[in-house]
Amino acid sequence: MTAAPDTTPPQDFEIRRFDAPVGAEVLGLDIGKPISAADFARLHRAHLDHHVLVFRDQRVTPEAHIAFSRRFGPLEIHVLHQFHLAGHPEILIVSNIKKPDGEPLGLGDAGAYWHSDLSYKPKPSLGSLLHAQELPSEGGDTLFADQHLAWEGLPPALQQRILPLKAEHSYLAKYEELRAKNPWRPKLSQAQIDQVAPAVQPVVRTHPETGRKALFVSEHFTTRIVGLPQEEGDALLAELFAHSVKPEYVYRHRWAPHDLVFWDNRSLMHLAAGTPDHLRRKLYRTTIEGDAPF
Ligand code: SIN
Repeated sequence: MTAAPDTTPPQDFEIRRFDAPVGAEVLGLDIGKPISAADFARLHRAHLDHHVLVFRDQRVTPEAHIAFSRRFGPLEIHVLHQFHLAGHPEILIVSNIKKPDGEPLGLGDAGAYWHSDLSYKPKPSLGSLLHAQELPSEGGDTLFADQHLAWEGLPPALQQRILPLKAEHSYLAKYEELRAKNPWRPKLSQAQIDQVAPAVQPVVRTHPETGRKALFVSEHFTTRIVGLPQEEGDALLAELFAHSVKPEYVYRHRWAPHDLVFWDNRSLMHLAAGTPDHLRRKLYRTTIEGDAPF
């Protein structure tokens, strides 16, 4: 049986590379409208090339955000069910806003340390899509660091040393430290702890679609290098963390209303630069399942 021809009309949009180490903006596309196979292929290619795409002016519902995200793969459900959007567990609310009863609306300190989403799972995330709902008048930027460039920028002797190494990643690594700073963070139930058992990952991963190597350790989740004495592993990790986020690998995203930002967790780490406490910030995040790093 031959597949039915794709009759979805093309959308007229432009992809403009940023003057930065990574990233491009997509102008003129509406992710809430049908996207043809050819347009989707163009977006997919651009995502692999630029690692972070900023879709401008997306005045779309959570349903459209979820449907667009699903075109790239099945979606993860975040372990912190306290911060799921009501009726849409695929969306994690990232927000510093407190509800009238004083309870947090969302995960206010998401991205407080450099990380790649869900690296603590056996199959970390392919990518995440963060959609601006309410933005502060200052602050609230998100930084992205290219881990292919970070790998390529290492001295060859260090590349040889780390290539065979594996490291442990744990969701719990900084959880209590963050809770001490932000007491609104929920205490994890045993069921939540059981969902986030530590995972062992290669220190250098290969992108499954492009074949490019990338550094894959982070200050948020990586706890130790397997097989190295703790002190030696800690020193190596500190060196890699510092290297991986050098300014020449980083794009700083200054949010505009209705931006939807889609990054590749296999290529990048990201960091929330922080929002002044008196200003409100709210974004919705979907997270796409990935595969086991190699
Ligand atoms: C995240 O790490 O998913 C959140 C990033 C941000 O809030 O800027």
